[in-house]
Amino acid sequence: MTAILLLHGPNLNLLGSREPEVYGTMTLEEINRRVIDAGQEKGVEVRAFQSNHEGALVDALHEARGWADGVIFNPGAYTHTSIALRDAIAGIELPVVEIHLSNVHAREEFRRHSYLAPVCLGQISGFGWRGYLLALEGLLGAIQNTAK
Ligand code: DQA
Repeated sequence: MTAILLLHGPNLNLLGSREPEVYGTMTLEEINRRVIDAGQEKGVEVRAFQSNHEGALVDALHEARGWADGVIFNPGAYTHTSIALRDAIAGIELPVVEIHLSNVHAREEFRRHSYLAPVCLGQISGFGWRGYLLALEGLLGAIQNTAK
C-alpha cells in the first residue's frame, strides 16, 4: 500500500486563527482530515505530523525513509532559512512536494526564496487548503508513474 507523510512546519498548528486573511480559516486538523480522506479514496495511507522544531522535522523526514513512498511538506518559515531541511530532503531520496497555502511569490521579498525547492519534486503555492489535494495528486502520479 502506498503511504504518504503529510508534514507541517512551525506555526501551522495555529491555522484557523492565524492570519486568516492570508492562510484561510480551515484548521490543521480539518486539512489533515481532507487529505487523509482523499488518500483513503485512492487506497493510500496518509500519516500527518506537525512540529514547530526544525530538528523534529529533520527526524520525521529521516523516519519516513522507513515507511513512506513520498512526502507532502509545508515547511512554513523554515522554507526560507533551513539548509538542514534541504539536506534532509536530499538525503532521504524520497519525492517531496513543497506546499504553501499562500502565494509566497506575491508576498514579502524574503518569502520568494526557498532553500528546499531545488531538492523537491515540485512546489505548490497559493491555492490554500486545496493545494494539499493538488500535491497529493501530483505526488501519487509521480510515485505510481501514471501517464507522464
Ligand atoms: C507558508 C508561507 C511561509 O512563508 C510562512 O512562513 C508560513 C506559511 C504558507 O503556507 O503559505 O508559515 O508556508
